[in-house]
Amino acid sequence: MKIGGNANYVCDVTSDEDLQQVYQNSKKLNQPVYVIGGGSNMIVRDTGFPGIIVRMRIMGVDILSDTPESVTVSAGAGETWDVFVKQMVERNLSGIEAMSGIPGTVGAAPVQNIGAYGQELSNTFVSLEAYDTQTDSFTTLKKEECGFAYRHSIFRGNESGRYVITRVTLQLLKKRPEPPFYDALQKYLEQHQIGAMAVTVQIIRGAVLEIRNNKLPDPNRLPNAGSFFKNPIVEKVFADQLLTTYPNMPTYTVDQTHVKIPAGWLIQTANFKGRVLHGIKSHDGNAVVLVNQNARGYADLAAARTEITTTVAKKFGINLEQEPLEL
Ligand code: EPU
Repeated sequence: MKIGGNANYVCDVTSDEDLQQVYQNSKKLNQPVYVIGGGSNMIVRDTGFPGIIVRMRIMGVDILSDTPESVTVSAGAGETWDVFVKQMVERNLSGIEAMSGIPGTVGAAPVQNIGAYGQELSNTFVSLEAYDTQTDSFTTLKKEECGFAYRHSIFRGNESGRYVITRVTLQLLKKRPEPPFYDALQKYLEQHQIGAMAVTVQIIRGAVLEIRNNKLPDPNRLPNAGSFFKNPIVEKVFADQLLTTYPNMPTYTVDQTHVKIPAGWLIQTANFKGRVLHGIKSHDGNAVVLVNQNARGYADLAAARTEITTTVAKKFGINLEQEPLEL
């Protein structure tokens, strides 16, 4: 978001040995370590980080198994997520094509269990390799051990800071994408007169890139961290009450008793969309994205955040939770 101070040190790691050495040295230097991928989904305070920022750059994509139905693939945590998605789509593999265009790295993907346009990382996830900072050793974590939920995992929850993800293994399918498609994709297919039987992973990737392009600001041009808030999950009875006042409020079923409400809709309906608060703009294409237009620092971002969350809480009785991690 182009906000935040400096770190004492920054270094890149390109192998497991590098990574282990940084942690061992950090103890001698008495410096805390924080690992980032692309740094696209985080907020840094003006005071910066009084330690070592490690940029994860362990690379390599390996096919572990290839059967008539599926391919199991392992990717280095430092691989750029969208380059990896493109490679898999080129191989006609299905499972992550709707997550095209998400900024950041492969290793960051499990931390917030990235998701978009009907797909979530956890759907194809098999396991990951990680450096366990507690035991100074490398370990494998299976899907059940990662505690995946909507935009959540143990890596930003209970075990935050403990594991450094070095490789991620996914199982992708050798089949065409099948309906039902996410609303925006369905609309795109209808507009382009593409029948359900003709849909390929390439078409979905192209559609997602186009939709994202129209709705989400490019972080290289307009500093932003994607959705600034998670879509709140509320009790269905609570949402039903709100629907009597706001019949056009979109809701997505989570389970029998819970629904998700788009934070973008809440922020728009609270009249923030397109407005600039303390140099921070709620994006025209999707109000949930906050763009740093000319904020003077973290305090401006925090002030804009408070104004939005308190207004939304007062109007709807819903507390918005920040999505990007904060350092
Ligand atoms: N909406 C509004 N106003 C807005 C934004 C959205 O009314 O300003 C309404 C839309 O009209 C639609 C509904 O809310 O009815 C959902 O909007 P959209 O499909 O654009 O998705 P979203 O819920 O705003 C989520 C993810 C995105 C992801 C999209 C597509 C979260 C917090 N955000 O956004 O992920 O790309 O779905 O699947 O879950 C991210 O995490 O950084 C991110 C961009």
